[in-house]
Amino acid sequence: MRIPARCLALIPVAILATVSLRGQTELPDGEGKVLLQKKCGSCHGLYKTTDDNKSEAEWGDVVYKMTGLGVQLTDEEFDTLVKYLTKNFGPKDKK
Ligand code: HEC
Repeated sequence: MRIPARCLALIPVAILATVSLRGQTELPDGEGKVLLQKKCGSCHGLYKTTDDNKSEAEWGDVVYKMTGLGVQLTDEEFDTLVKYLTKNFGPKDKK
């Protein structure tokens, strides 16, 4: 099947639009929101943290991995973030 060139040209535009929209994802309120905005958006968009539906253990693993990449969190902040992520982007949303 041949895709017309002018359709192909629109693909990067569509991807960029999606990415930038997602970068501004409205985060649900809650303890942890500010923390997430402050700590997790600098290297990759926050969409990375909102697209996934992970269990608490999985979020724990990811946040732990991120601390290995340079994110600095106190134990308390770590817990707050994992709880926030699990509550808002947890497995309950999995279809
Ligand atoms: C120091 C830069 C940096 C910061 C700050 C950072 N990340 Fe990441 N993150 C990365 C890199 C690099 C990758 C891709 C590498 C990988 O997947 O191993 C990644 C990948 C991810 C992924 C997808 C990979 C997976 O294992 O599922 C998630 C989810 C994620 N980050 C969440 C977070 C959260 C939550 C925070 C805040 C606690 C955060 N990131 C802060 C650098 C960072």
